[in-house]
Formats: sequence, C-alpha cells, structure tokens
Amino acid sequence: MALSKKDLLGLRGVPASEISEILNTAELMKVILASNNKKTPHLQGKTILTVFYENSTRTRLSFELASKYMGGVAANMSASGSSVAKGESLIDTARTLDRLASDVMILRHSMTGAPHLMAQHVKASVINAGDGTNEHPTQALLDMFTMKEKLGGISGLNVAIVGDVTHSRVARSNLWGLTTMGAKVTFAAPPTLLPPELAAAGCRVTEYVDDAVREADVVMGLRIQLERQQKGLFPTVREYHRYFGLTPERIALAKKGALVMHPGPMNRGVEISSLVADGEQSVIDEQVTNGVAVRMALLFLLTRRNVQ
Ligand code: NCD
Repeated sequence: MALSKKDLLGLRGVPASEISEILNTAELMKVILASNNKKTPHLQGKTILTVFYENSTRTRLSFELASKYMGGVAANMSASGSSVAKGESLIDTARTLDRLASDVMILRHSMTGAPHLMAQHVKASVINAGDGTNEHPTQALLDMFTMKEKLGGISGLNVAIVGDVTHSRVARSNLWGLTTMGAKVTFAAPPTLLPPELAAAGCRVTEYVDDAVREADVVMGLRIQLERQQKGLFPTVREYHRYFGLTPERIALAKKGALVMHPGPMNRGVEISSLVADGEQSVIDEQVTNGVAVRMALLFLLTRRNVQ
C-alpha cells in the first residue's frame, strides 16, 4: 500500500490504515538500522532537501541520515546563509528548490501553514517538520511507534501530555494521531498554557498534573516554548516545576511500567526532573532512534507513491 496524498502536512484527517502502514514499514526499517550495514536502495536516484527556517538537532539530522541510509542524495538549506536572508519569499524559494530537482522537501517554519503553502507550489512531496504551533506529524509518528513497540499497541492507551500545550505542535499532532488510533489523550498544563478549544477535539484537559498522570500508560512531557510565549504565562520556572514538572513522585502515580517520553530538547529541572528523564521508565533516547526508522519509512512510502 502507498500513501494517498503527495504530502504529509499533518496527522489531522490521516486515516488509521495509513498511520499503521507507516508504523509497520518503520518496524522493518528499524531492523535495517540495527544491522551492521545500514544501507538500502529505496531512495536511489532521489533527492531529498531539508529546508529549515527554525533550529533543529534531531529532526533535521534524522531526515538527512534516513535519506543517506537509503541511498538518496540529501542536501540542507537553512534560512541563514541562503537567499532568504536577502528577502526571497517562501514561494520563490520553494519554486527554486523544486527546479533543483528535489523529490521530497522537508520544511520547518515558524509560520502555521507554511508547508501547506509550499506544497501547493511544488511538484515534490512536502513533509511538515514543524509549522509554528500547528503540527509536527513525524514527531507524533515516532512517538506512536515507540508506544506500539514498547506496549504492544496504541488502541486503548491512556496518554497524559503535560506542559506547554498552547505552543506545542507535538501536542497537536499527537492528539490527532493518537485519537485516530484509538488512544485516550489527557492534556495537563496551567490554564494559561492550555487552549480550551482542545476539549472539543475529543480529549480531556485538566489543570492538575496528578489527575492526568494517574492511571496513565504513557506520560509525555513538553518543553516550555519560551521563544513562542508572551511574558507572564507562569510565575517562575521554580514554581512551574513544583506544580507542573514531571517528578518521580508524580510518575509513581501512573500505571506500573508506564513510559516516560519527551520530544526533546528538554529543559531539565523545569518540565522534567533529571531523575525522571534518566530513570528506568524513560524511553526518551529510544524515541530519537525510532525517529530515524519512522522517517526512513515515510520517505520510502512517499517516493514510492510518486512512481506508481
Ligand atoms: C519539537 C519541536 O521542534 O516542535 N522538537 C523536536 O522536533 N524534537 C519540540 C520542541 O521544540 O520542544
């Protein structure tokens, strides 16, 4: 089976069958990743461009490595050092990149909808690697992959997502993906970081972290996105940690063997304590490895679609 759309712009509206297809393909890719010879011909003759207008460590590098492991040509464009710094528009930049014969463009941008705009102007497949506070579909896919791998499935899981929900594209993509796959999502944050409209999207929202964590199968921390906040959404970092941080006492309320997750980068001692981040229940490091497998799967499925 191939994916039905040219682009992956978000998980909202993506059917469960397609999410399962990506996760199942990623399982095969993970076997290749774990082998001594991380080389496949799946992307031979294909060009993959990462186009990053915002900072990234994991997402950009894992797309680049995924492309290279599968024999593709990978190149990167970042806003500083490109003609964007000379004032070139996103659409003109996109057209230029399309003419450089790229097959897949992976875009991260601070503006909600930037990948959607780009996708309308290029022949290449566009993958959203995070658009403002809207979506970050490949992060949610790797999160779901990790849950499935560790807990045997996604349907019926209680997933508590704790932190700066308002500014988190990871939270939104997980909401759409997890509810499609039959999990129950609870968001917990101070009221200033908890958008009320999310309650209408079929999840639970609470100001009490303990309530969200109690009986959770998965507890996911979110980074406080200071770069996207206006001032004054919480009093001090110390107080935030005390009332909303993931501490060993709070994690003890979750189900036995519950997973602790975080998309990274972490603010240790703010949204998560080091004891939890480095503790036995943490799968944060494995999320990073799984990100490569999931991105390999996605690049393969999207480029295969283009030749059919
Ligand atoms: C996330 C992002 O950029 O949205 N990071 C990531 O891709 N691993 C989360 C974050 O920046 O907090």
